[in-house]
Amino acid sequence: MDAAAFDYPALLERVARDVAPLTGSGTPAEYIPALASVDPRQFGMAVADLDGNVFGVGDWQVPFSTQSITKVFTLALALAQGGDSLWERVGREPSGNPFNSLVQLEYENGVPRNPFINAGALVVTDRLQTLTGDASSELLDFLRQESGNPDLGFDAEVAASEQENGHRNAAVAHFMASYGNIDNPVPALLEHYFWQCSIEMSCADLARAGRFLARHGLRADGSRLLTRSEAKQINAVMLTCGTYDAAGEFAYRVGLPGKSGVGGGIVAVVPGQCTLAVWSPGLDAQGNSVAGVAALDRFTTLTGLSVF
Ligand code: DON
Repeated sequence: MDAAAFDYPALLERVARDVAPLTGSGTPAEYIPALASVDPRQFGMAVADLDGNVFGVGDWQVPFSTQSITKVFTLALALAQGGDSLWERVGREPSGNPFNSLVQLEYENGVPRNPFINAGALVVTDRLQTLTGDASSELLDFLRQESGNPDLGFDAEVAASEQENGHRNAAVAHFMASYGNIDNPVPALLEHYFWQCSIEMSCADLARAGRFLARHGLRADGSRLLTRSEAKQINAVMLTCGTYDAAGEFAYRVGLPGKSGVGGGIVAVVPGQCTLAVWSPGLDAQGNSVAGVAALDRFTTLTGLSVF
């Protein structure tokens, strides 16, 4: 369908109206105290098209904690810089388990199911750390460039809060190290992982930053980050694994590759057309934003813009 056929501002207003009864439902992430205090009634949504336009509604310019959404960007950087050998260390299958689960790791010999559960993301960050020597700064620079927002930064309070409550991530990382699947010292790896989760971005920033996935691998400056095939592969893993153990339900309702974070944000991609970002802090039992998933569901239902 032709991009010009859509009146994105009007569509976003309509979606926001339709999901208004849901904003405030669900619960903000409680296991990270710095996130638990966020006002759950906030809602924002943005669309970035491939001509450089960004449209938004509600709290679309309010920065929030991106959390696991950053896992998509570290994956793209690790693949771009290090190539396919990453897939020897992490799989591409949905886990069907919570994002911080340990159980599968033991009977699968320390090789995580996919790059979007915590274990897999730790392997990807480990790879990026080996490739660059400073994984979290590499990620932040990339996000600043792609979003066009030089003010993006880490949230030191969130990073510290994660560190204090990070026993499970530490256990996962040490466990994989015991199988030889982590190359860097675990404490340094965890630090980069927590910093990367703490990056604050708005829906506008995120929609812009994710555009290389809609542009089949081309960056904001026109240079190529990923081959067309790699961009397809990342989108496919987002579709099948991007929303934890609710990926099947997300694909069924939204029909787009998407990646969520426990800050309540979700980024979704319409290849060849646009990138969507939505944020509302109330989460469902699987850790996905209740109003955010509903808004993406409404958007693709109203427009027919999905990969199916
Ligand atoms: O590892 C954690 O617990 C968080 N920093 C990230 C959590 C998140 O958004 C969902 N995880 N995949």
